[in-house]
Amino acid sequence: MQDKILDGKKVSADIKAELADEIKKLQDKRNITPGLAVALVGEDPASQVYVNMKEKTCKALGIVSHKHVLPADVSEDRLLSLIDVLNNDPEIDGILVQLPLPGHIDENRVLDRIKVEKDVDGFHPVSVGRLVLGQPGFRAATPAGIIELLKRSGVAIQGKEAVVVGRSNIVGKPVALLLLNEHATVTIAHSRTPDLGEVTRRADILVVAVGRREMVTADMVKEGAVVVDVGIHRTDDGLVGDVAFNQVQEKASAITPVPGGVGPMTIAMLMSNTVQAARSRA
Ligand code: GUN
Repeated sequence: MQDKILDGKKVSADIKAELADEIKKLQDKRNITPGLAVALVGEDPASQVYVNMKEKTCKALGIVSHKHVLPADVSEDRLLSLIDVLNNDPEIDGILVQLPLPGHIDENRVLDRIKVEKDVDGFHPVSVGRLVLGQPGFRAATPAGIIELLKRSGVAIQGKEAVVVGRSNIVGKPVALLLLNEHATVTIAHSRTPDLGEVTRRADILVVAVGRREMVTADMVKEGAVVVDVGIHRTDDGLVGDVAFNQVQEKASAITPVPGGVGPMTIAMLMSNTVQAARSRA
């Protein structure tokens, strides 16, 4: 059986070490250095932290990161022009626009504009369509990271009852599809599910991505369930998730901590997607 703590920090370090080897081989054998462009609009503090972590990880692995910081009042057209330039830059393998964007910018139009071959965030409608159809393509980093963490921690998915709480385009919907592709029986619950506890108690694998602090309590979890917490909330007592960790860990057979669970996996999978994009460079 797996350890009780699903250690995203350790598993992501293993993945990053594998990627560093692969990046070195790409350079030695094909003279390719993977390049990731990150566009950040405005000064949202959380987004700044995420973008800086992505940049730092790129540097550590030998990926060239190109950061583009645009003012909060930048026009949609200017952002689209930047994407056009990056789409046509042969040194750039992956393009990531940090979300959320300011209200005056149409997120869908922006994500649509990124070349599918450079869509390392997996948010382009074509990438999402490929996920739905089970075809090869880029998978969004957090959902892919959750599956990778479960697999590398020895958690079997096939045939299990999986319940996802949350239906966002970034996590809830795609992770449900990935669990389905792994042959779980999948239920998606959300804020308008009448008796949420009745649904979550069915779960052998419970993935929580609702964005509400410590919302999932021990009474909502089946004895022996595997619990994945995607939430992250800054509090006076430090970072906490969407799951009340201390009480739920008594019941779970395995659980992700916050921090050190899903978060580090997200970055590792973004790096993995970028290396995959570089490998397919013409
Ligand atoms: N904002 C929150 N999560 C993400 C992510 O995975 N990618 C991007 N681009 N923005 C985000």
